Amino acid sequence: MAAAWLHDIGYAPALQTTGFHPLDGALYLHARQWPMAVAALVAHHSGAAEVAAVRGLVGAVAGFPPPALAVGDALTYADQTVGPDGDSVTFAERLADMLRRHGPDSANAIAHARREPVLRAAVNRVDRRLAALGQPSYS
Ligand SMILES: [Fe+2]
Repeated sequence: MAAAWLHDIGYAPALQTTGFHPLDGALYLHARQWPMAVAALVAHHSGAAEVAAVRGLVGAVAGFPPPALAVGDALTYADQTVGPDGDSVTFAERLADMLRRHGPDSANAIAHARREPVLRAAVNRVDRRLAALGQPSYS
């Protein structure tokens, strides 16, 4: 829950050190003694490793251990089914909006071919977990 609230904290201008918000947020939280599990979730949220590869920041992100699959999936699912204004959106709508906001020359756009399957797999795993619990999909 803490990582869900804090996952985009690295967008705050005062926290930007590398310019890559998952890493900046994780570095900030780690420096302030937040549990490594929270900082790691922030560092790796929503396929951050794929974008880090484009930005030359793989080593820095890898400094944070990968989160447990189900927990990382849950954060990715929540992130990828809510728009920037907090409204529920489909996964497809969220991706389209992200690409539009970041632009065609962005690291997100360059990483998209590798990142989208990672995100889709997480969304599919969560949908299967929700279905097994008799819960609706939000994707
Ligand atoms: Fe984010």
